[in-house]
Amino acid sequence: MQIRQNVSLKPYNTFGIDIPAESFIEINDHDALADILTDKSLPAKKNILGGGSNVLLTQPVKGLTILNKGKGIIKVNEDDEKVWIDVNSGEVWHDLVLYSINNGWAGIENLSLIPGTVGASPMQNIGAYGVEAKETIESVTFWHLDDKAYITLNNNDCRFGYRDSIFKHELKNKVFITSVRYRLNKIPTFNISYGAIEQELEKMNVTELSIKAISDAVISIRTSKLPDPKQIGNAGSFFKNPSIAITQYIQLKEQYPDMPSYPVNESQVKIPAGWLIEQCGWKGFRDGNIGVHQKQALVLVNYGGGSGSDIWALSEKVLNSVHEKYGIDLEREVQVW
Ligand code: FAD
Ligand code: EPU
Repeated sequence: MQIRQNVSLKPYNTFGIDIPAESFIEINDHDALADILTDKSLPAKKNILGGGSNVLLTQPVKGLTILNKGKGIIKVNEDDEKVWIDVNSGEVWHDLVLYSINNGWAGIENLSLIPGTVGASPMQNIGAYGVEAKETIESVTFWHLDDKAYITLNNNDCRFGYRDSIFKHELKNKVFITSVRYRLNKIPTFNISYGAIEQELEKMNVTELSIKAISDAVISIRTSKLPDPKQIGNAGSFFKNPSIAITQYIQLKEQYPDMPSYPVNESQVKIPAGWLIEQCGWKGFRDGNIGVHQKQALVLVNYGGGSGSDIWALSEKVLNSVHEKYGIDLEREVQVW
């Protein structure tokens, strides 16, 4: 176990923010995890980092930052229709997607190319193109940092919601997720309900649907819209898409007839935050090293050398202007450290 002090986290967060961790360790397997997490000679405060693709580092990170790289996939059960796999949390999410596609197992192909690790997939119940991780997660196993024990929660108890779970509430900063059990389908149900997928499949001249074709279409759409963190620092959508009451929506629609919306339930609709932010004039905004992406107003970017606190301050301005113009409160999706 090699613990280093005062380590720059720049290579470990997709915003590319240069902020030091007080103590830092990279773990490549989970065998010694319990020993590390209970070692009294180490800082009590633990910060778990996967791919660093959903964090904004705003200040030096106190305590021990643990970079999770513990990998491994085991098939634990199967029947004629389904397969159950346990995946160690340090696996790269997209590698798992490709592994599933290569095995002919369906369910997560729409979630292709989402950066980060398997361990973070239940955190905010990652989602894209009409599918959310909760649809395939059977259970989540974690080490409870206070209780000092391994616990497994089944899907229901994870309280998954839109970009939400128990891990962002009661269990926030209290767990190290070590593995996730997914239930994948040997007989695929293709989900191409998200409009852009069908158009992309047509463009690709796909005549016979397959999980690989859907994955390719999603990858193509994503690469055309979202900035590659290797080129421009970002954490994907900075804010969640807000849900508002239909009554409020009807009033707003009178004033702003072009306002797009998606139904949530009988009383709520979702408004694309990207539209709200663009309408407030932020799309393509740049202030020195940071800004709002030119092609996607929901993505705040670091062109290089920007600080986390500057990005935070920009996000405050964006929040305030959307509130002033529309009376809608945006919520940040990224985890602020
Ligand atoms: P990190 O950023 O390392 O961590 C995020 C949070 O989870 C932190 O609070 C961290 O402490 C906690 N955490 C991480 N691992 C563990 C663990 N093992 N145990 C306990 N806590 C843990 N998200 C979507 O949902 N849909 C998208 O389409 C999408 N597109 C994106 C596109 C781009 C270009 C980028 C940069 C990001 C995108 N994201 C998207 C956000 C991000 O990829 C996901 O939230 C991803 O799951 C984060 O994984 P990570 O390993 O990088 O987590
Ligand atoms: N829009 C604009 N201007 C913009 C951006 C978007 O007007 O600059 C409007 C358009 O009306 C567009 C709509 O917003 O039709 C939706 O845009 P898009 O399809 O790009 O999706 P999104 O709502 O911006 C969400 C997720 C993404 C996910 C995509 C695809 C959230 C917060 N974001 O983005 O997830 O990949 O849908 O499913 O739900 C992430 O969470 O980090 C993320 C990238």
